[in-house]
Amino acid sequence: MSLYRNTIWFLKGIQEYTKSGYEAAAKHFVASDLEMNLSGRSFIITGANSGIGKSTAQEIAKRGGTVHLVCRNKSRAEEARKDIVEQSKNENIHVHIVDMSSPRQVWDFARTFSQNHSVNVLINNAGCMVNQRELTDDGLEKNFATNTLGTFILTTALIPALKKSQDPRVVTVSSGGMLVQRLDVEDLQFEKVSFDGTMAYAQNKRQQVVMTKQWAAEHKEIHFSSMHPGWADTPAVQASMPDFHAKMQNRLRTEAQGADTVVWLAISEAASRQPSGLFFQDRKAVSTHLPLAFSRSTSAEEMKLMSSLEQLAEKFKE
Ligand SMILES: NC(=O)c1ccc[n+]([C@@H]2O[C@H](COP(=O)([O-])OP(=O)(O)OC[C@H]3O[C@@H](n4cnc5c(N)ncnc54)[C@H](OP(=O)(O)O)[C@@H]3O)[C@@H](O)[C@H]2O)c1
Repeated sequence: MSLYRNTIWFLKGIQEYTKSGYEAAAKHFVASDLEMNLSGRSFIITGANSGIGKSTAQEIAKRGGTVHLVCRNKSRAEEARKDIVEQSKNENIHVHIVDMSSPRQVWDFARTFSQNHSVNVLINNAGCMVNQRELTDDGLEKNFATNTLGTFILTTALIPALKKSQDPRVVTVSSGGMLVQRLDVEDLQFEKVSFDGTMAYAQNKRQQVVMTKQWAAEHKEIHFSSMHPGWADTPAVQASMPDFHAKMQNRLRTEAQGADTVVWLAISEAASRQPSGLFFQDRKAVSTHLPLAFSRSTSAEEMKLMSSLEQLAEKFKE
């Protein structure tokens, strides 16, 4: 089954996730969807110092939005802020230092942020693919801690603040790579299988899609979406998938092309007219399963994911 899923996924990717896939899809985009004045709206973007996150921050800043860059490294974050301010001429760009793999730091940030600022849109973009099984200082597997638990805690902790704001949205940058994985709620930190970073990452990205669907069902006042940016040439792809990067280099999307649907989901009126909880690719809601892939989970499994994350998250709450 995994050979079948990987093969049809890769063939799909060559068609759709590449630069030429983007260009074909972009012929149907409505340019005016992104003609928005965002002054007075506040955006949190995690992992905003590079790649898709930085490009998204740039587009929002250009349109006058207040942007909170949530990054783990102060000098990389300040450098990104400087570039964004210079290019957008928007001074309302703020840096917050948070390691998304540290549940305590994420809880602390969300608490302090909610006391001092408002938020209209949360963009869960920070992500990693760590190829060896590495543990954080809290003993959590690194990919799971960053991609799944960090995203879960930040979103859950900001829901009350989001509910107080106008047209609140949560956009989670998942990956089409999740299509090769069926949700596994029995082994969230890959303790029972021989470790494979690509599969761990894909499982986390599947979990993000399921979380988005569950949040949407529970919190009707907020518009939730998850998305796939396509294959974009970013530092993460170069560092974590060097062979793929070398082979695909000429076919990869630019960072801005990867960011396009994130921006569209975060700011456009067209996106807010779509039902909440869906998975998007190139400004369209798409299936979260490959044909005949037997990757659908039961609602009991999806509820179990949410309750396991809730229990784990609580352990790190003051
Ligand atoms: N590029 C693609 O083809 C592609 C495809 C599918 C999905 N995605 C997803 O797109 C998102 C953005 O990735 P990218 O491709 O734009 O790569 P990128 O340029 O390397 O960006 C990843 C960002 O996440 C940050 N990050 C990683 N771990 C973190 C942590 N523990 N705490 C805080 N920030 C952390 C990185 O910070 P540092 O700079 O400090 O490392 C960086 O700012 C990710 O969620 C990725 O999974 C990308």
